[in-house]
Amino acid sequence: MNNTPTIVGFLCNWCSYAAADLAGNNKLPVPSFLKTIRVMCSSRVDPVFMLGAYLRGADGVLMAGCHPGDCHYQTGNYYARRRFALMHKIVETFNLDPERFRLSWISASEGQRFSQVTNEFAEHVNKQGPNPLKTKPFVE
Ligand code: FES
Repeated sequence: MNNTPTIVGFLCNWCSYAAADLAGNNKLPVPSFLKTIRVMCSSRVDPVFMLGAYLRGADGVLMAGCHPGDCHYQTGNYYARRRFALMHKIVETFNLDPERFRLSWISASEGQRFSQVTNEFAEHVNKQGPNPLKTKPFVE
């Protein structure tokens, strides 16, 4: 069995993905097991994507976008924030682990913050242990 944790990160193109690039260019530490998925805006992230990643065995799922008020599409991250809150309720209702999901706002100039957020989340996910659905998948 593979014990390497997996974090799936949905990053908006205009801010958080650029911050990830900046972190890389500045050689800041980022968890090697973070799998990034670039989306044009955090509003593109359907909660089903996040739940799907978890149900398929991801140990943690991160969604990151522009700070409120800075979305490239003006209000996309407000929709994303509401959807994330709704998804959290669903996760709690199904007695899954809400601590494995995180939403963060990281602007393009915040490479340092990207490094900090991803490392803190990775540490948190590691403390939680492996996703219990990894050994007994909910979805094949
Ligand atoms: Fe970044 Fe909308 S473009 S959150």
